[in-house]
Amino acid sequence: MFTSKQLLEMINNHCSNLQFERVPKGLYSPIKYVLDLGGKRIRPILMLMAYNLYKEDVSTAFSPAIGIETYHNYTLLHDDLMDRADKRRGKPTVHQVWNDNTAILSGDAMLVLAYQLMANSPSVHLKEIIDLFSITALEICEGQQLDMEFEVREDVKDSEYIEMIRLKTAVLLASSLKIGAILAGASVKDAQHLYDFGIQIGLAFQIKDDFLDTYGNTAIFGKNIGGDILCNKKTYLLVKAFEKANQVQKEELRNWMSDEKHEAKDKIEGVTQLYNQLGVKTICEDKMKEYYTKGIENLASIGVEENKKKELKDFAEHLMYREM
Ligand code: IPE
Ligand code: IPE
Ligand code: MG
Ligand code: MG
Ligand code: MG
Repeated sequence: MFTSKQLLEMINNHCSNLQFERVPKGLYSPIKYVLDLGGKRIRPILMLMAYNLYKEDVSTAFSPAIGIETYHNYTLLHDDLMDRADKRRGKPTVHQVWNDNTAILSGDAMLVLAYQLMANSPSVHLKEIIDLFSITALEICEGQQLDMEFEVREDVKDSEYIEMIRLKTAVLLASSLKIGAILAGASVKDAQHLYDFGIQIGLAFQIKDDFLDTYGNTAIFGKNIGGDILCNKKTYLLVKAFEKANQVQKEELRNWMSDEKHEAKDKIEGVTQLYNQLGVKTICEDKMKEYYTKGIENLASIGVEENKKKELKDFAEHLMYREM
């Protein structure tokens, strides 16, 4: 069995060896740029870890693993445009280095490349994998649409938020695990338990991402702090803040949402202060733990020896305590 660290190294080697021979360079250079910036590679790691619960020859799953990472990076190109984000993985985003149209078109090309890589899966499992990948990709668009629609709403409920992050984030972690299981010939039951585990840790993962967007450190997180606050993103922090606020605090939050006269840093500071007053930090931490615990329960139901599950368990835990 491989450790997550060993798998990360394999994935990074594979990514850095990717060559795009086609032209024009203007289409492919941004793809190389974003894939070479690294990132945590959690989706391919999860895929290979799930595969590795059953089989040792992880290289069989390399192509779909790189496919899922390419797909994820495509969503980032478009997401950074939609979120008006200037920084990712500590470097300027593609639309900053090139322009908006490049982020759209190189992103489109990455989606196609992701399908090509995914389609290199062994033919016995091909249809099942492509079907799962396709429905997941649709769900992510649905989640991203909700994410945008929520920006202009104030009354987003906890349950609506959770459904939105299930779609935009959790299903990709879940499908990565399930594809790994399918490739390894795991039972339908196990594949489903792994999917469910992925949903739970995916929910915790996005709540942590929201948390770090306010409370993280740019140098480690690699993104500008306060980006979510600036676009009135309905993060878990803001949803909970509206829920906990008294009338005066609600009015203050509303004022910040519609504010156009202060500087960006004042809005970030003002909203963060309200978060601090309302104790949303602890609420986030408790919710993450709750999802992590549920995830571990799903892991417990899988039909492989307990010691084999430890690596996945540790990896999920490490995601919860990450700073990037
Ligand atoms: C960023 O994903 C998008 C979210 C779902 C929060 P990651 O945090 O996995 O980004 P990288 O790939 O490690 O940079
Ligand atoms: C990411 O949500 C969801 C997808 C990329 C599909 P975020 O917008 O929170 O991700 P970051 O914070 O930009 O990485
Ligand atoms: Mg974003
Ligand atoms: Mg976004
Ligand atoms: Mg975010």
